[in-house]
This record gives sequence, C-alpha cells and structure tokens, in this order.
Amino acid sequence: MKLFLDTANLAHIKKFNQMGVVDGVTTNPSLVAKEPGEFEEIIAAICHEVKGDVSAEVVSTDFDGMLTEGRHLSAIAPNVVVKIPMIPEGLRATKAISQSGIRVNMTLVFSANQGLLAAKAGASFVSPFIGRLDDIGQRGMSLVEDLVKIRDNYHMKAEVLVGSIRHPQHVLEAAKIGADIATMPTEVMEKMMQHPLTDSGLKRFLDDWEKAKKAKASITV
Ligand code: E4P
Repeated sequence: MKLFLDTANLAHIKKFNQMGVVDGVTTNPSLVAKEPGEFEEIIAAICHEVKGDVSAEVVSTDFDGMLTEGRHLSAIAPNVVVKIPMIPEGLRATKAISQSGIRVNMTLVFSANQGLLAAKAGASFVSPFIGRLDDIGQRGMSLVEDLVKIRDNYHMKAEVLVGSIRHPQHVLEAAKIGADIATMPTEVMEKMMQHPLTDSGLKRFLDDWEKAKKAKASITV
C-alpha cells in the first residue's frame, strides 16, 4: 500500500520523506490556504521534494475553468496529479484532461456510484473521504470496501486513494481491505510509528547496557 501525506506543509513533508515512508502527497485548497506563499510555488517545492504523485486541486467549478487550471497545474512538474471535484462538470473535465495524458484524482467521493463514474470518466485516482462520512454517522470504511470490490471486479485502472483519514486504525483497515493508497495528516503518520512497548523496551535495553558497563568498569578497577 502506498502512503501519502495530506498536507501542503513542506517542512512536515521533508521530515517524513527523510524516513523513506512518503510515496506521495495530496493537497486541497484548505490545506494550501494555511501555508504562506503562492500556490504554484508551494506545489513546485513539494514536487521537487517528493518524487511520487502530488495532487493539486482546481478551484474552478466549470468545465473550461477546470481544463485551463488543470493544464496550468500539470505544467508545474511531471508528478503533478490534477485534483478535480466529483461534480458533473468535473466528470466532463476529467474525461478531457485524462485523454490529453494528464492524470486526474477525482476528489470528494462519498458514494460507490460516484467512484464508479469517476473511474469510467478516466480518473487515475478515486478519493473516498471516509472521516467525513464517519462524522455524519455513516461507516466510511464501507465505501472503501465497495470501491475496492468494484475495482477488482472490473480490473479497473483507477486506484482507490483513501482520504479524510483521522487515525491509524483507518490506515490499517484500508490496507486490509486492499485500498491502493492512504493519504493522512502528519499526526496520523506520527502515531503509526509509536508504541509504548517500543519506548519502554528501548529504555530497558539502554539501562541494562549502562548497568553492565558500570559493573564491568568496577571489576577492572
Ligand atoms: C484528500 O485528498 C483530502 O485532501 C483530505 O483527505 C480531506 O480530509 P479532511 O476530511 O480531513 O479534510
């Protein structure tokens, strides 16, 4: 499973990328709005840091606008994936943009039928938002199960990119189901690394080492 970071913060991306655990990045207008600087410069810097796919989202909601923006964003770097919202005009734009060889991540997918349409229109990535479904009392992971089943039934090329991840359990469940990618905030990736037994185990190893060193030193004196 590929692990993406869902952030536009370059410092955070660099920190985790140095650990070799970042396959790509997703951004959205809300995430980019939190960072200083120009949109294009932010995306260019992320694309330079991360060699994998970097999603950059259009803000137009009409076909022509999405097309113009999509082309503009894809010219920033070869690893840019154009993120387009799952609306009727978005499907039209996805068809046109993907036919011109630019990869599309269809975002704001909240039902399996929306995902099916996104894949059919030519999206390379279909992004179900599971945390937002959980927030309204629906089981977001059911959508991932449905999309993975549809992908497998029809050998679809589109990858299931699970977004709106809130905690490590979401990542684990998505991996067990067979989703292609999980994109998560840096806090979630941080939590994935942690276990109290790792910390206490390491402390005991180091304490024992120190004790043995001191004991040996006192024998030789
Ligand atoms: C995915 O591509 C989205 O950027 C993201 O996961 C949205 O998550 P949120 O519901 O935490 O805003």
